[in-house]
Amino acid sequence: MYDYNSNVSNINFGYLISEKGPKMTNEEYLLFRSLIYNESGMYFKDTKKEFMESKIIKRLKANNIRSIYRYYKHLISESEGKREFLVLIDTLRIGETSFFRNRPQFDLFREKILPEVIEEKKKAVCKAVKIWSAGCSTGEEPYTIAMECYEAVEKNYRRGLTPPLLEIIGSDISFSALKTAKAGIYSKERIEEVEEKYLMKYFNVEDGSYAVSEQIRRCTVFDFHNLKNENGLREIDIIFCRNVMIYFDLAEQKRLIDKFYASLKPGGYLFIGHSETLQGLDDRFKFTYFNKGTAYKRI
Ligand SMILES: C[S@@+](CC[C@H](N)C(=O)[O-])C[C@H]1O[C@@H](n2cnc3c(N)ncnc32)[C@H](O)[C@@H]1O
Repeated sequence: MYDYNSNVSNINFGYLISEKGPKMTNEEYLLFRSLIYNESGMYFKDTKKEFMESKIIKRLKANNIRSIYRYYKHLISESEGKREFLVLIDTLRIGETSFFRNRPQFDLFREKILPEVIEEKKKAVCKAVKIWSAGCSTGEEPYTIAMECYEAVEKNYRRGLTPPLLEIIGSDISFSALKTAKAGIYSKERIEEVEEKYLMKYFNVEDGSYAVSEQIRRCTVFDFHNLKNENGLREIDIIFCRNVMIYFDLAEQKRLIDKFYASLKPGGYLFIGHSETLQGLDDRFKFTYFNKGTAYKRI
C-alpha cells in the first residue's frame, strides 16, 4: 500500500471540533483527494471541496473522531481504516441510475449486437454469453441487460435449439448499492422506465414493490470490485461501464480502458456513458452506432 503518512509533514491541519465545527484546510483536502484518487480512481476537482468536507464531517461524527486530520490517520490505518474508507467512498460516490437508462443504447444492444453475439454462440464451443456491468450501482443496469438478453434470445433462437447460457456480472465499489442490487426489489418510482410488457414478464409484485423474477436472478451475479484493480475477467462478450469514467481523470480512464481491452474477447463490445468517449484515449476500438445508440467494438 502507498505510504500516506509520507504526505503529512508540514501541513496546516484544521482545528479540532469547536463550537464553530471542524473546517477542512486546503492541505487536508489535497490529502483526502489523493488518498481517494489512489485507492478508487475517483478524482475530485478543486470545486468539490465543500461537498467532500460535509461528507467527511458526517463520518467524523459517526466515528466519534474530533478532527479531520485524525480521521485521515484513521483511514490510512491498517486495521479499521480499509472498512471505513469504503464507507466514506459510499457517501461520496454518485450512484444515479435507472432501468433502460439511455434507451437508444439498449436498442443497439438488443437489435444489432445481441443477434450478432447469439449467432456466434450457435457455432461456438462455449455457448455462454458473458456480459459485465462494471459500476452497476443498485442493479437496474444489469437487470435491464438480462431482460433484453431474454428478448433477443426469444427472437433469434428457433424452438428446439438449446439457447445460450446467460452470465451477467454486476460489480461495484459500494457495498450498500450491491446489497440493493442483490435484493432486486424496487419501488414503483424506480420501475417507471420499464414497459408494461417487461413488467408483466420479468417482475413479481410484492407488497406494492416490484421484485425481479427468478429467471432474471438466475443469470445475474453481483460482486464487489474496485475498478482501480484488475479482476481477471477474460473472454467477455460485452462490457457496460456507463457513467463511471466521468469520475476518473484521464490517466485513470486510460488504465481502465486497458483493463477492459484485456477482459473483452476480440470483436467484443464496450458501452460507455453518453457523455463519455474513447476518442483520444484508445484507438483499439471501432465506434459503432444504430440510430442514436452508440458503442465501441474491440478490433
Ligand atoms: C453514476 S453510477 C452509474 C450506474 C450505471 N452504470 C448507470 O449508468 O446507470 C456510477 C457507479 O460507479 C461506481 N464506482 C465509482 N468508482 C468506482 C470504482 N473505483 N470501482 C467500482 N465502481 C465504482 C459507483 O459506486 C456508482 O455506483
